[in-house]
Amino acid sequence: MLLKADGLCKSFGGKDVLKGVSLEANPGEIISIIGKSGAGKTTVLRCIMGLETCDKGTILIDGKYLCMEENGTMVRATKKELYEIRKSLGMVFQNYHLFPHLTVLENVTLALTEVYKMSKEEADKKAIKILERLDMGDKLNNKPFELSGGQKQRVAIARSCVTNPKLLCFDEPTAALDSALVMDIVKIIRDLAKDGMGILIISHDEKFVRDVSDRIVVIENGVITADMNSEEYSKIMRA
Ligand SMILES: Nc1ncnc2c1ncn2[C@@H]1O[C@H](COP(=O)(O)OP(=O)(O)OP(=O)(O)O)[C@@H](O)[C@H]1O
Ligand SMILES: [Mg+2]
Repeated sequence: MLLKADGLCKSFGGKDVLKGVSLEANPGEIISIIGKSGAGKTTVLRCIMGLETCDKGTILIDGKYLCMEENGTMVRATKKELYEIRKSLGMVFQNYHLFPHLTVLENVTLALTEVYKMSKEEADKKAIKILERLDMGDKLNNKPFELSGGQKQRVAIARSCVTNPKLLCFDEPTAALDSALVMDIVKIIRDLAKDGMGILIISHDEKFVRDVSDRIVVIENGVITADMNSEEYSKIMRA
């Protein structure tokens, strides 16, 4: 199993936002988390990514504990362990978070040269391969402001994938895309999963969720209220 989250609780300023969320993901599986605004979707993702600490519960990623409950107290990964765990994780943010002063190629190679200490030549080779696969081979030297929304997103995806994460998370990947681009992103995500990457998506887009997901998890008020496959979801949507 790639991800096992068990009994996650999180409160902000006395307000319980996650009330015992459990979630599992396997390699090659595409899971979407859906639910109303404020339900706690982004918070779950941020806890799994190690960007937020949960108050209670256990998170196991690729065999490594991000946090665990032991005799009622929380044991959290050390900084060094967190650094290692993060190597298994990738995140594509809703507004892409590209570095505006860097070119497309530099945005994608940065982690390889800085974190993985790869040579520039090797990093360029790896980045160009993935950018070409995402149809961005002719934009290598452009800056983010010169790109369309869909192109920026491809760069963000390339940047997250270039380090070969085992679990790739997307927060609202279709929010800024028109329907043709949504079909492209469905294909891109399915291709990544075919290679064995686990994919976790937060989305409001019902059609996209139905088209892309193997499993759909519904979160309401900090609690998971349904966990179904895409056929079961389609039936509910048709009803
Ligand atoms: N850093 C924070 N400080 C205080 N409250 C927060 C913080 N982050 C989230 N919350 C609160 O937690 C609740 C859940 O937020 P979250 O962002 O997880 O919702 P969401 O399901 O992603 O919603 P949306 O669909 O609108 O993005 C909200 O009530 C929000 O106000
Ligand atoms: Mg959110």
